[in-house]
Amino acid sequence: MEQPIRFGIMGCAAIARKLSRAIKLSSNATIVAVGSRSPDKADGFIKDNGLPENTKVHASYESLLDDPDVDAVYVPLPTSLHLQWAVAAAVKGKHILLEKPAALCVADLDQILDACEANNVQFMDGTVWMHHPRAAKMHDLIQDPHLFGQLKMVNSIASFHAKPEFLHDNIRVRPNLDGLGALGDLGWYCIRFILWTADYELPRTAVAFPNPVKNEAGVLLSCGASLHWENGTVATFHCSFLAHRTFQATAVGSKGTLTLSDFVNPLEEKSAGFIFASQSGFKELITGWKPLPSNHVIPTEIPQEACMISEFSRLVGDIRDGGAKPEKKWASISRKNQVVMDAVRDSIDKGFKPVQIVG
Ligand SMILES: *[C@@H]1O[C@H](CO)[C@@H](O)[C@H](O)[C@H]1NC(C)=O
Ligand SMILES: *[C@@H]1O[C@H](CO)[C@@H](O)[C@H](O)[C@H]1NC(C)=O
Repeated sequence: MEQPIRFGIMGCAAIARKLSRAIKLSSNATIVAVGSRSPDKADGFIKDNGLPENTKVHASYESLLDDPDVDAVYVPLPTSLHLQWAVAAAVKGKHILLEKPAALCVADLDQILDACEANNVQFMDGTVWMHHPRAAKMHDLIQDPHLFGQLKMVNSIASFHAKPEFLHDNIRVRPNLDGLGALGDLGWYCIRFILWTADYELPRTAVAFPNPVKNEAGVLLSCGASLHWENGTVATFHCSFLAHRTFQATAVGSKGTLTLSDFVNPLEEKSAGFIFASQSGFKELITGWKPLPSNHVIPTEIPQEACMISEFSRLVGDIRDGGAKPEKKWASISRKNQVVMDAVRDSIDKGFKPVQIVG
């Protein structure tokens, strides 16, 4: 790579602080500009996050997108603004790292992805956990027919117990900003885990669980669903702003079981674990299992956010410096995630009836 990928950050959202640190830790990326409608906020953001003093401040997102020194933008804006600003970024030829959930619905996401394709820009959403080296290691195991067999059941839970102020005031529960609530913020991760275990084969049907909890504005605070493939493989997930912090995921194959309790955010930064069992049985007569499940610990030199930045920057570098085409895999995975999320929301709206999932 001739020079690092030059990032512009759109807005100064809290999540942008974490990504700014990740960009600083990634050797092939650098932050050159921040766009904010409040330049004071942007100045504060630059100081608080130890960004270089020559980081440019743009007083509007338009001006950030017009900056010829910006290769790529990180878009942590509320979901309802993704369509407008991701399309605008693509039209200006900026590669896009878009926070999740990618869009309010698949029709919006398609407009974003079409704009990316038409302008030859790389798209990736901010589902960070997939970029931890742990994910690659787990993937090897569950794809192994001898160790894992065929996928039969998946369950995933993503929750945290939000403070009362959060439940009616936070961006993530305001109908005009992040109208998908817990489904968009947390359910997105659960659905991604499920799709990842099924090698992105879309389930056929989604059925939402009855009685989801909503706030006074009608935004989902807690919900769940089951997802069904035609061959009988089934997945369930629960996402909630009302339950203790839990990021549990289990995939059960015919011959093996993968389980981890911190799939979205590892318990620690420098390594992450999971448990894998294969061909488990009971000991004879005495209580016990054999073989015992194995505990895997996967170290990482840089935090998972920086792994994501490095991968994104590698792809952008190949396009910018090597004339490569954008990697379509990331758009395709994002779209499937969105299609399943839309089906779950439809099922909730239709009184928990089964909804066909159409890719
Ligand atoms: C990007 O950075 C990573 C380490 O952070 C390094 O391994 C990789 O070679 C770099 N890629 C390019 C294209 O410079
Ligand atoms: C059923 O379909 C899922 C999703 O495509 C696949 O992962 C799994 O291996 C299939 N199971 C069997 C028994 O064929």
